[in-house]
Amino acid sequence: MDNFSYVAPTRYLFGRGVENEVGRLAAEAGWSRVMVVYGQGSAVRSGLLSRVTASLSQSGVPFIQFGGIAPNPTAAPVREAIVMARRACVDGIIAVGGGSVIDSAKAIAAGALYDGDFWDFYIGAATVTDAIPVGVVLTIPAAGSEGSGNSVITNEETGQKISIRTDKALRPVFALLNPELTMTLPQAQTAAGVADMMAHIIERYLTTTPDVEVTDRLSEGLLTAIMTSARRVIANPNDYEARANIMWSGTLAHNGICGCGRREDWTSHGLEHVLSALYGVTHGAGLAVVFPAWITYMADRLPAKPAQLGRRVFGVTATDDREAALATAAALRAFFAELNLPLTLGDLGITDPDFAKFTADFHRDKGNPYRGYWTMTPTDTEAVYRLMV
Ligand code: NZQ
Ligand code: ZN
Repeated sequence: MDNFSYVAPTRYLFGRGVENEVGRLAAEAGWSRVMVVYGQGSAVRSGLLSRVTASLSQSGVPFIQFGGIAPNPTAAPVREAIVMARRACVDGIIAVGGGSVIDSAKAIAAGALYDGDFWDFYIGAATVTDAIPVGVVLTIPAAGSEGSGNSVITNEETGQKISIRTDKALRPVFALLNPELTMTLPQAQTAAGVADMMAHIIERYLTTTPDVEVTDRLSEGLLTAIMTSARRVIANPNDYEARANIMWSGTLAHNGICGCGRREDWTSHGLEHVLSALYGVTHGAGLAVVFPAWITYMADRLPAKPAQLGRRVFGVTATDDREAALATAAALRAFFAELNLPLTLGDLGITDPDFAKFTADFHRDKGNPYRGYWTMTPTDTEAVYRLMV
């Protein structure tokens, strides 16, 4: 096991009605003016936004609102909101939504306290050391941004989708998780969220660090719980207990606990972010295509961990590691098929893939070579993309 530092300062309130605590928590935090950030309408239609603003008013916390954040969020709204936040002297930001809203809120939070353009953080020209505190009312279990120190933004001018990770500065101070709020999700979004949280665990599971049994077992338990609960939710979208288990899994998948003591991979996320940036595909749906291809490619190179994953989580019985890794890829693909997720680039609507461009974009953003579980050269990268057809 490697040495590690694990920081998880977020306060979680979980269960029915917790969104109504947002005013109390904002007041307790001493925020004098809050910016409420939300998406393209689901929180308005469900009445959630009204409950959030009513809670703030009842607690005497003044607020301004910034809505319209789109999935795969872009830089322009972030810049617009930074100007607003500065003008209004906002000292707390509340994200009402999923990863796209939360990541934008984090970008606003860091950018508002920075003299230059917020994109500097994403291209490595500056480091986030300070940010306005962010609180979250989560509406979709998927990205895990409610507990992570990450933010992912697409620069629509350069075509780059880049993730930054901070140890502490961008971790939300509180996150309110009411599983009932997720019952209005379209089936495709629920499924994409499940694929994303599974990917967050498997990206960490695919490690070359030996002897990480505790973290491995935590990961395997989470994956098993997610799959069991996902099947229940597909059968009955209003199954509160299954929704609750998925929601908490999504947070644990990405708050760092599954990475303790080991090197992490993140190749598949890099491969997917290229697709989201170019085609706007839903992140989790993209991962459902990428991950089985990636594991298939590893079967001939570094099959040990995919083989272990298959034996411990997917009931794979093959004793040969290569065979077991191939069976793991097949089992993962079969599970995604059960959720009606896309399985090929064609299913994602990418009918004329430009593999050379995908490969160039991957290495532009992730470095060349990219050293994850496997050291990815452009030859490897293109070969993995070609397995997605
Ligand atoms: O915009 P609205 O109208 O709210 O609709 C959203 C959106 O269309 C809808 N939705 C959310 N909650 C709903 C709902 N519809 C009905 N009922 C509800 N309760 O769902 C759609 C997707 O929302 P989005 O926030 O985009 O989903 P997700 O949480 O999957 O976030 C995806 C983004 O997070 C990034 C992804 O790359 C992508 O940009 N990621 C962020 C990470 C992080 N910060 O740690 C890690 C991840 O790996 C990921 O890369
Ligand atoms: Zn993800």
